[in-house]
Amino acid sequence: MQTNPRLIAIASGKGGVGKTWFAITLAHALTRLGRRVLLFDGDLGLANIDVQLGLTPEHDLGSVLAGRVSLTEAVMRHPDGGFDILAGRSGSGALSALDPTHLEAVLAMSRHVPAGYDDVLLDLGAGVERAVRRMAAAADILLVLATEEPTSLTDAYAVLKLHRADRPEGDARLVVNMAPTRADGERTCTTLRRACATFLRFKPLLAGIIRRDDKVRDAIRRQTLLLTRHPGCSAASDVEAVAYGLVG
Ligand SMILES: Nc1ncnc2c1ncn2[C@@H]1O[C@H](COP(=O)(O)OP(=O)(O)O)[C@@H](O)[C@H]1O
Ligand SMILES: [Mg+2]
Repeated sequence: MQTNPRLIAIASGKGGVGKTWFAITLAHALTRLGRRVLLFDGDLGLANIDVQLGLTPEHDLGSVLAGRVSLTEAVMRHPDGGFDILAGRSGSGALSALDPTHLEAVLAMSRHVPAGYDDVLLDLGAGVERAVRRMAAAADILLVLATEEPTSLTDAYAVLKLHRADRPEGDARLVVNMAPTRADGERTCTTLRRACATFLRFKPLLAGIIRRDDKVRDAIRRQTLLLTRHPGCSAASDVEAVAYGLVG
């Protein structure tokens, strides 16, 4: 029997905290655990999964929305990673001002992907405006990325607060990225969880701590996958641990 794939959204509020890189690497790690994964670029303003991977997809979300191609036709398989990608629309800005009908169409698309996928990973844009908030609320699991920077913490808190309002029983989990050490990452997590417990009366689960690792920048610069380029490095094993936790 065909069950619906899980929709896992990745949000942060603040930009530049590693959402896109993390979404790509998590897609790869889940694939290596035997999951069939679709990585969906849901950053409607500054879509860039394809850029970070050095791919030139023939079609993108925009072509599907315009009715030119089906979702199956628009999806591209990563040649090395083995997961599928639905590219967003880089730079055109045409999707950033999505009207509500289009936004619902994108959501319906991410919910009703072709059969065969286990996980759909949705890389969300920065900010907490309507489209991001609506997509986060539609997910089965929301992974909220934060770094130890105060601005990242307050933005991650804002994402959690809105998600709590939209989905009081929703499954939101924390990912601390760019932690200098595990102990630092744990402190960041404690700070955020404490704020949630005090003001929102819930404690988000910790999905994982990803350490800061120069290999990440190297892999991105070369437009390669971290798990292929630097297997076993600290950030790689940290993302693998998150994937493992999601598969259970
Ligand atoms: N764990 C990490 N260690 C070191 N650098 C990282 C790590 N995660 C992300 N980065 C850096 O952060 C930059 C921004 O990442 P990106 O995925 O584009 O962020 P976002 O999608 O949140 O805007 C990357 O170019 C990369 O160099
Ligand atoms: Mg991004």
